[in-house]
Amino acid sequence: MTDAETIQIIRVDKSALGDLDFKNLPFGKVFTDHLLEADYIDGQWTNGCIRPFHSLQLSPATAVFHYGQAIFEGIKAYKTEDGKVSIFRPEENFKRFNLSAVRMDMPEVPEYIFMEGMRQLIELDADWVPALADHSLYIRPFMIATDEVIGVKPSETYKFMIILSPSGPYYIKPMRIYVEEKYTRAAPGGVGFAKNAGNYAGSMLATSQARKAGYDQVLWTDAFEHKYLQEVGVMNVFFMIGDKVITPALDEGTILPGVTRNSAIELIRDMGYVVEERSISIDELIAAHQKGEVKEIFGTGTAATIAYIYELGYRDQAIELNTELWKLAPELRKQMNDIKYGNIPDNKGWMYPVN
Ligand code: COI
Repeated sequence: MTDAETIQIIRVDKSALGDLDFKNLPFGKVFTDHLLEADYIDGQWTNGCIRPFHSLQLSPATAVFHYGQAIFEGIKAYKTEDGKVSIFRPEENFKRFNLSAVRMDMPEVPEYIFMEGMRQLIELDADWVPALADHSLYIRPFMIATDEVIGVKPSETYKFMIILSPSGPYYIKPMRIYVEEKYTRAAPGGVGFAKNAGNYAGSMLATSQARKAGYDQVLWTDAFEHKYLQEVGVMNVFFMIGDKVITPALDEGTILPGVTRNSAIELIRDMGYVVEERSISIDELIAAHQKGEVKEIFGTGTAATIAYIYELGYRDQAIELNTELWKLAPELRKQMNDIKYGNIPDNKGWMYPVN
């Protein structure tokens, strides 16, 4: 057995679970008793350990603070009525994590540490998984560069961690989104497809400005013409036009390849709809809206799940939709939840059992 296949377990003396109010769980604010960590040193992964949740002590010279080599994932685990805990498609997040690692010139994390480490961690903290509707255990794996040196070069050491947060929904209400034309999230050849921290840092100013104008998030457009629609701040986007469903294609590498996006495409196709993965411009969308053909707009993401977009603002125009008339997004949300909470058999093999 190599170091990368050994995970030591150190338990808390006393669990903090007794202090948790399951009925009051804002997204991402509470963390479980334990975390997982592992270090990349001398070209190898080592020190794999599940231990009590703790703060990090890092030198101010630590590379991640300066040059931003930091990547992460978002995954969810669910509790079914019989108390079993399962994770939604974590192998897909594992693959995407390592794609992000390669793009940011960071080492790939071995499958054993990521997958088995995550399973063992959740098994240990299984009592923290909420059993309430729309609640889940949010799983946050991440990796940071830990060399203590000022100089722009890939770090030689890294820390990988997984922390767990019992959470309620990320978005509670349907959303109002602004089509962003000034700032750019991603361009071909860049890092748009990777889940690196900098993509989110770069999005904050545009999002804050949109929030001041009464919107929840922005819908990013392409870097050259600010015309082709990409994705919303924390989710991929789908448009139902007529009886077809369109979502921006991944081929330019400017869009996050969402696990919920992929799952949604599969379920929508199973329902008998045509799903087109292609470029779609704001002009096409506005023209379709003027003909009364835009039926539904929604986002997909691990945190966001299936989030309804009831209004899309573009310059001085707005596409406003009545979500009460919608059929597809509510059915998609129901089917996803039925699979995640174990209300129907998992025919797709999407749920990864923990215990
Ligand atoms: C997720 O959907 O899991 C994300 O990572 C988005 C956001 C919470 C940053």
